[in-house]
Amino acid sequence: MPGRTVKIAPSILSADYATLADDIARVRAAVDLLHGDIMDGHFVPNLTIWPPVVRSLAKHTDLFLDCHLMVDNPEWMLDPLRDAGAGGVTIHIELGDPRPMIARMRGIGLAPGLTLNPPTPFEAVEPYLQLVDLLLVMSVHPGFGGQKFIADVLPKLEKARKMVDEKGLSCELQIDGGINPETAPLATAAGADILVAGSAIFEQPDPPAAARAIREAARSVLE
Ligand code: DX5
Ligand code: ZN
Repeated sequence: MPGRTVKIAPSILSADYATLADDIARVRAAVDLLHGDIMDGHFVPNLTIWPPVVRSLAKHTDLFLDCHLMVDNPEWMLDPLRDAGAGGVTIHIELGDPRPMIARMRGIGLAPGLTLNPPTPFEAVEPYLQLVDLLLVMSVHPGFGGQKFIADVLPKLEKARKMVDEKGLSCELQIDGGINPETAPLATAAGADILVAGSAIFEQPDPPAAARAIREAARSVLE
């Protein structure tokens, strides 16, 4: 797979929420963008950060802020997230027809993304790939960090890679959940452009070294 590169996106879900700015600054040189998990306690059984936290984060980092929305009602949050400094927003296909929200995101200058849970087939997102900048393939059931990678989702990534390459789409492919130096090569070989990792970065003794280890592991299958 010559010519492809891989980006590393640390998920702040596994960072220390009391020292977020410091945790992010520490890994800054070893990563490419920041992944923020926004959960409402309904779509998933967990509660996390909200637009005000994104606004605070944006003041402390120059990294692109990629927001993964695990919420029942994402509509109202798009303008506040854009105003807070988010660069891209990813919504779940399980919520229904994404076209109105994709159009809304484009209209207000947010990079639109779509994501699908492990049981959801690739065919659910296929009609919309040409409309988005990002497809996120979940490799765990969303809600919590530190879960085991579900390798059964890899064929979905392969299908997406094939479609993006064949049609020349400008949609990056991201994978999220259970990514570490052992699973990063599998995800990269299947077609991922962006690897999200939470516990394998922030819960390690040396987070920047852990991020570099994931990148190196991924590169091993691109050379
Ligand atoms: C899970 C989140 C992930 C999570 C990944 O719902 O979407 O972004 O932080 O955590 P790890 O990398 O520990 O599996
Ligand atoms: Zn996520």
